[in-house]
Amino acid sequence: MSKNIINVAVAGATGYVGLDLVYLLSKHPNIKISSLCAQKNIGRKINSFDKRIKAKLPNITNLKSVNWDNIDLLFLSLPNGEAQKLIKKLYDKYSNLKFIDLSADFRLEKKSEYEKTYNLTHRAKNLIDKSVYSISELKKEKLNNIRIISNPGCYPTSVQIPLIPLLKKKLIYTKNITIDSKSGYSGAGKNYRSKFNHKNFYSSTYAYGVINHRHVAEIDQEFKKISKNIEFTFNPHLIPAFRGILSSIYVYKKDKTTINKIVNALKKFYKKDTFIRIQKVNSQIGTGNVIGTNNCDISVCKTRCKNKIVIFCAIDNLIKGASGQAIQNMNLIYKLRQTLGLQ
Ligand SMILES: NC(=O)c1ccc[n+]([C@@H]2O[C@H](COP(=O)([O-])OP(=O)(O)OC[C@H]3O[C@@H](n4cnc5c(N)ncnc54)[C@H](OP(=O)(O)O)[C@@H]3O)[C@@H](O)[C@H]2O)c1
Repeated sequence: MSKNIINVAVAGATGYVGLDLVYLLSKHPNIKISSLCAQKNIGRKINSFDKRIKAKLPNITNLKSVNWDNIDLLFLSLPNGEAQKLIKKLYDKYSNLKFIDLSADFRLEKKSEYEKTYNLTHRAKNLIDKSVYSISELKKEKLNNIRIISNPGCYPTSVQIPLIPLLKKKLIYTKNITIDSKSGYSGAGKNYRSKFNHKNFYSSTYAYGVINHRHVAEIDQEFKKISKNIEFTFNPHLIPAFRGILSSIYVYKKDKTTINKIVNALKKFYKKDTFIRIQKVNSQIGTGNVIGTNNCDISVCKTRCKNKIVIFCAIDNLIKGASGQAIQNMNLIYKLRQTLGLQ
């Protein structure tokens, strides 16, 4: 790696997340995009998939033709189960190569939990311990010696950013937490139609994963690091919009805590974090102000029930919930300004 330039490859460059990642990386001052990989469309130009990409970039290749000696960092924006196989192949052979995995392959610390949740055998179980799960704002320790960063899921990002500081500070009760999340259909990737039974994607709202959505295991794992007694329900919905997540999170505040105290605790916790924008008490928010950005808007509101409050959190699932957070994590690993390439 030359002093300031990081040579990157993107596996899964033609997916919904991959294209946002390539677009953002193409504008990052410290990045040289050396390889863009997919399974299909080999030889095609990346901007034929996304007209926003103006930089001159390599055409799509398959993973076999990448010269890994020239790559410092590989982003993996592949379906669950694929990143682990590729990282396993490369990890020992290319000891300077780092990985940021945007799939779920390294999010769960227990292999058995991964296999139960994703119904897949984990092919790189020895590497799970070597990876670190990182929501950038919550991962303050040094990441520069870590070779595998596991980027969080989109829904879990929208849930943990508002709740973790409040649970840590014991400002809310750990029981009866109701998480009602809505996502644009890009959350299911470019083959979204094959993943759902309902037909009217563009004119209906659809509740799915009602018993146990896959992201529950991830949220549960991270909550358990704060307290074993946290109980929540989580219901995701697909809405007729392409991108954006709004999570509405109903919690009970402690008797002696005021709503202003909750807002101030969040402001204090995130005071150095440009992307986290805590709004005034009772503000109405939505995905409209965060789409196309790495921002995360949070609003804490009263309800009619004593001590029950609702916290709204809005992010762009493809950016703060995936590609933007991956770049934020990259900036952390390479000790670059957290906002570089993201503003
Ligand atoms: N969508 C979101 O909001 C979101 C948010 C957070 C995390 N994620 C995670 O990010 C990953 C990518 O999601 P996505 O929504 O971008 O999916 P997607 O739209 O389906 O894109 C998948 C990409 O992976 C490539 N690919 C698939 N199988 C491959 C293989 N065996 N070898 C090489 N390339 C392969 C595809 O290329 P071909 O078309 O050529 O097969 C495509 O470029 C997933 O793990 C997802 O769970 C997604």
